Amino acid sequence: MRLQEKRLRQAVQGKTVLITGASSGIGRDVALLLAHYEANLILVGRNEERLRDVALKTGAQIYVMDLREKENRQRLCQEINQLDIFINNAGLSIHRSIYDSLERAHDFTRTMAINYFAPVELMLHFIPLLDVAQGQIVNVSTINTKFRPMAKWAAYQASKAAFDTWLRAVAPEVKHIVSTIYLPLVRTPMIASTKKYEYMPAMSSETAAKRIARLLYTKKKEDKPWWLLFLRFVRP
Ligand SMILES: NC(=O)c1ccc[n+]([C@@H]2O[C@H](COP(=O)([O-])OP(=O)(O)OC[C@H]3O[C@@H](n4cnc5c(N)ncnc54)[C@H](OP(=O)(O)O)[C@@H]3O)[C@@H](O)[C@H]2O)c1
Repeated sequence: MRLQEKRLRQAVQGKTVLITGASSGIGRDVALLLAHYEANLILVGRNEERLRDVALKTGAQIYVMDLREKENRQRLCQEINQLDIFINNAGLSIHRSIYDSLERAHDFTRTMAINYFAPVELMLHFIPLLDVAQGQIVNVSTINTKFRPMAKWAAYQASKAAFDTWLRAVAPEVKHIVSTIYLPLVRTPMIASTKKYEYMPAMSSETAAKRIARLLYTKKKEDKPWWLLFLRFVRP
């Protein structure tokens, strides 16, 4: 996939860009890509070693923190008083039968904590900042939110769908741009523990990063695979 480099540079050069979940996978590749176009990056993740490695390559400011913790979100919000672009990318995926989850209520609280409550609370602080900057949020979502509910994906699908619904409800009210990318399977550490994905076709995380970057200059509201068109016939 080719990017329009001049347009991307205009969109991000000198802009303050916050990326959550930048220590790994898609978030890491978005950070590396936008650093090349001279964005001022603020990166968040829990794994200090991996986040420091990205910072070394990008010159980014980093926050090593668990975004499920309220005091961490508060500290981040207190320290960020100007923001042009927010890439909501940190996420947790769980693939587990409900019969293996009967003693695991925490699976549902921890997916909601990072996939729903954390971005909602960050957005409550960032909406005014993004409005002033006439900025943009890009939400890194999944095509799962477009599918009918699927067995073994209750925790992930419900939590990703919750934030997708929240953001779509908020979008008509806010003065900044709201974009969502609905990604198919992407080859990242997130899918490594699901054995059946080993041989399934998957997008590279570099391509996912480019598609996210493209939204920063096209300002489109959505990016999704063309073949999702056919799913309108199966969604309830
Ligand atoms: N891979 C796919 O097939 C796929 C498909 C569709 C959508 N997505 C979405 O893409 C996004 C990125 O996923 P990925 O595939 O790149 O997975 P990944 O490699 O596992 O990356 C997830 C990132 O989120 C961070 N994170 C997770 N929990 C966190 C927490 N509590 N606090 C702070 N940071 C946290 C992780 O950092 P630490 O571990 O350092 O905390 C990591 O940087 C997710 O929102 C996911 O839902 C992925």
